[in-house]
Amino acid sequence: MDLSGIVGYVGNRSSQEILIHGLKNLEYRGYDSAGIAVSNEKTIEVRREKGQIQDLEASLQLDPILKGNLGIGHTRWASHGTPSVTNSHPLSDTNGKYFVVHNGIIENYRELRKGLVADGVDFQTDTDTEVIPHLLAKYDTGNFLDTVRQVLPLLKGSFALAIMCSTNPNTIIAISQENPLIVGFGLKEGFLASDISALLPYTKEIYPIKNNEIAMITSERITIETLDGEPIHPKKVLIEWDQEEIDLHEYDYFMLKEIMEQPKTIKKTLEGKIKNSHVRIAELEPLLNQYEFHHFEKIDIVGNGTSYHSGMVGKKVMEQLFRIPVEVHISSEFSNEHGHLSNRNLVIVLSQSGETADSLSALKEAKRNDCVTIAITNKKRSNIARIADYMLLTNAGPELAVAATKAYTSQITSLILLTIFLSQHSDKTNAYDYTELLDALVQLPDVVEQTLIMTQDAIDSFAQVTNDQDHLFLIGRGLDYVLALEGALKLQEVAYLHADAYAAGEVKHGTMALITPGVPVIALATQAHLRGKLVSNIRELKTREAFVVGVTTVGDDAVGEVVDQVLYIPEAHPYLMPIVAAIPLQLLAYYAGTVRGYNVDRPRNLAKSLTVE
Ligand code: F6R
Repeated sequence: MDLSGIVGYVGNRSSQEILIHGLKNLEYRGYDSAGIAVSNEKTIEVRREKGQIQDLEASLQLDPILKGNLGIGHTRWASHGTPSVTNSHPLSDTNGKYFVVHNGIIENYRELRKGLVADGVDFQTDTDTEVIPHLLAKYDTGNFLDTVRQVLPLLKGSFALAIMCSTNPNTIIAISQENPLIVGFGLKEGFLASDISALLPYTKEIYPIKNNEIAMITSERITIETLDGEPIHPKKVLIEWDQEEIDLHEYDYFMLKEIMEQPKTIKKTLEGKIKNSHVRIAELEPLLNQYEFHHFEKIDIVGNGTSYHSGMVGKKVMEQLFRIPVEVHISSEFSNEHGHLSNRNLVIVLSQSGETADSLSALKEAKRNDCVTIAITNKKRSNIARIADYMLLTNAGPELAVAATKAYTSQITSLILLTIFLSQHSDKTNAYDYTELLDALVQLPDVVEQTLIMTQDAIDSFAQVTNDQDHLFLIGRGLDYVLALEGALKLQEVAYLHADAYAAGEVKHGTMALITPGVPVIALATQAHLRGKLVSNIRELKTREAFVVGVTTVGDDAVGEVVDQVLYIPEAHPYLMPIVAAIPLQLLAYYAGTVRGYNVDRPRNLAKSLTVE
């Protein structure tokens, strides 16, 4: 069961360079181990290494393998079977005829493996993937495509595969079953990748392989067929992202680049959506043509990690505007257990990648129960986008750092746009004048820009709160509590700091026992109407001599008077403060991580696209 990035190339150039370059652009998908298989028409040679792509690259420089014009590659995030050379892909059958790279999960691999072991097959790895090359060898008909056709119906699960065969050295076969895999069209060359970021330098013409399709890639042509052999004319689509968007430019890390991009990405999220004091979302007009808003009795929002936190912000804002209940769920919980669902539930799935298996599963559960579904995603060709009834694109551009930053702020912006859009069409709303909120949205990119400047100026003293600390608390009330959760997640993820978030009023109900002199606490105080109570909570912490750093808006004196240190940020509409105040928390996590010497783009044990549940 592995998550990973897959690449493939066939053409006139040396495949090795293209595979390595592609893998580097997919490294956010997994960086425990990597490997390539290259064919020069006579032989196939494989190199696999534990560690990052640069380790594989170094190994290839030190001890080169053959040069060839066809190859496949893989970068792995191990979920079962340790990260090791042995468990890394490509994997082959005993006689070295079939070579396979795999992303996803073969759910029935145990029984398949049992059958193959009974046949006398000697397994070399702990992976589910290894059953595939052995099955290909077992059911070998002498024809590459036919053999793959024999084996595919035996595999259960969600998977993307790229396969090479020593007797067909000009062809790669690729399958994408609920797992992304994209072919790229070149001039007398063909490409394959899990994500377009690996293809950008080579081609803009792509075709995302769909479920139940097989792609055969040669330098001459790319042929797509259904599993039953029906030819499919692949409708080429143009990649809208540019190479420029995935370059680091002057930054050391994508995380910092993506934090700094937020004024621009929020502007992109808003683009074309606010006109004449109204929100227009063209892609959601069909939803309201089909259902009046009063058709819906409940809104459910689902997501994981940072997307779940954006959903919590969405819930709090929607509850203020709508007169129907809004619930937010962790996707992996919702997909197994939920309350009554029907066609009167509007289910909103939040996923930057559009691939997260937990959210995909939650979406399918919602659809099984007849709910009306909207995907809010950054990837318009992803599975989640495809399966949901309606899609709202966040337009944040490629996010390559593992930690979500611009994805979070673009998701909240989208949720607020959606809230206003729906409330414009509804009588089930509170009398809320959203003119002020709309004006604030228009100003938001500038406010975020200003926040970036103010935080960078103050970061040295702000970051002191994390110096030499292993544990830290974040507290807030209302939307600031959600912000605290997101801030804690960022600090855990990139600075490996044990950060815990609490609703400020809750600390006295138990956690106060952990507050001893000098314990660092970040108190978020961006919600003016809750500040009075928060100040009381800060006083309780100060009585126990905690070291408290406040984050509040310019013009507020109350917080500054009770804390040890204060960071001022610009004031915006209260619903937008989870976006504005996320900036210092993102920068704090970035600085705390880099000061400790960590690669903040590739946090340990993590990967960006989690395509297993
Ligand atoms: C945290 C982070 C993760 C993701 C989560 C969901 O920085 O990046 O918590 O937010 O894995 O991913 P998507 O939004 O792609 O479904």
